[in-house]
Amino acid sequence: MITIDIAKVKNALINDEIVAIPTETVYGLAGNIYSEIAIKKIFNAKKRPLFNPLIVHIKSAEYLEKIAHNIPEIAWKLAASFWPGPLTMVLNKQDHISDLITAGKRTVAVRVPNHKLTLELLNEIEFPIAAPSANIFKTLSPTSAKHVFGAFGNEILILDGDECKIGLESTIIGFEEDIPILYRLGAITIEEIESITGKIKIAAAQNHAPEAPGMLSQHYSPRTKMILTTDMQSEIAKFKNKKIGVLSFKSENQKNQVIKIETLSKTGNLKEAASNFYHALHSLDSSDLDLIIAEKLPNEGLGKTLNDRLIRAIYK
Ligand code: TXA
Ligand code: MG
Repeated sequence: MITIDIAKVKNALINDEIVAIPTETVYGLAGNIYSEIAIKKIFNAKKRPLFNPLIVHIKSAEYLEKIAHNIPEIAWKLAASFWPGPLTMVLNKQDHISDLITAGKRTVAVRVPNHKLTLELLNEIEFPIAAPSANIFKTLSPTSAKHVFGAFGNEILILDGDECKIGLESTIIGFEEDIPILYRLGAITIEEIESITGKIKIAAAQNHAPEAPGMLSQHYSPRTKMILTTDMQSEIAKFKNKKIGVLSFKSENQKNQVIKIETLSKTGNLKEAASNFYHALHSLDSSDLDLIIAEKLPNEGLGKTLNDRLIRAIYK
């Protein structure tokens, strides 16, 4: 059920239920981090393998030491620069953080989300919430209450906080001997991180039990077959007899040749493109198409994150 009643959502969390919550990035499927019942429900509902750990959402940076210890100085600096906001940090976990949440790792992923309703909720409950994105494992991330409803129906309570403003998952940073290392490209660009930290390391992609399974090759996929191209016209020509949908960065030139076109940003603004990205993919995916042809984005700043998601979306 979709609701705007925070009291109802709070009650559900207190009673070991899971709920969907809005954040500035994507909707999360949340449960009390101290309720084993709730955490198990998250994995079951998402059909997520247990080796894939969850992000703990806290109400403010001041709360961080309750969750993590031996926090590097540079992590505090990053928290001061980006929280509340789309930065997740992987840190040494406190003993009371369960193995279920961290998939047995000694580290825990933490962030402070930047959404009014969810911050209000976090301030009203006595515990942090664990929340992966509110989609079934490997499918498209949800950026509206409607997307969440499409995946889970009335199974769970969904706190409606409108469309996610950023629309791309958080950037995940870990630390190796206090040097930041990028585990997942996300809403904060590498350049933005490096403006605070200096040069960071980039983790290599992995396929099994990865450091951050946002790095699993296939992830974030539509059900419709999708291909990625830098030459839209010739791809369209190849599939003339198919029902084609196009995910375009800024051009609408192909309008008359295809059934549906989603343009991410007519002015070529990557931030705008990011905020429309999952919405556009959901919309194409529910348009009964044979094929989605996606245009590669400029490989800079947020364009890097978007290309990363596109590559995972086409990988089968
Ligand atoms: O923007 C976001 O991060 C959204 C919203 C809801 O906060 N959440 C999200 O969660 O994208 P999820 O579960 O779909 O992705 C979290 C990623 C996973 O790839 C997971 O493997 C990684 O965080 N992760 C969690 N704990 C980790 C740890 N201890 N070490 C390395 N990676 C970790
Ligand atoms: Mg996810």
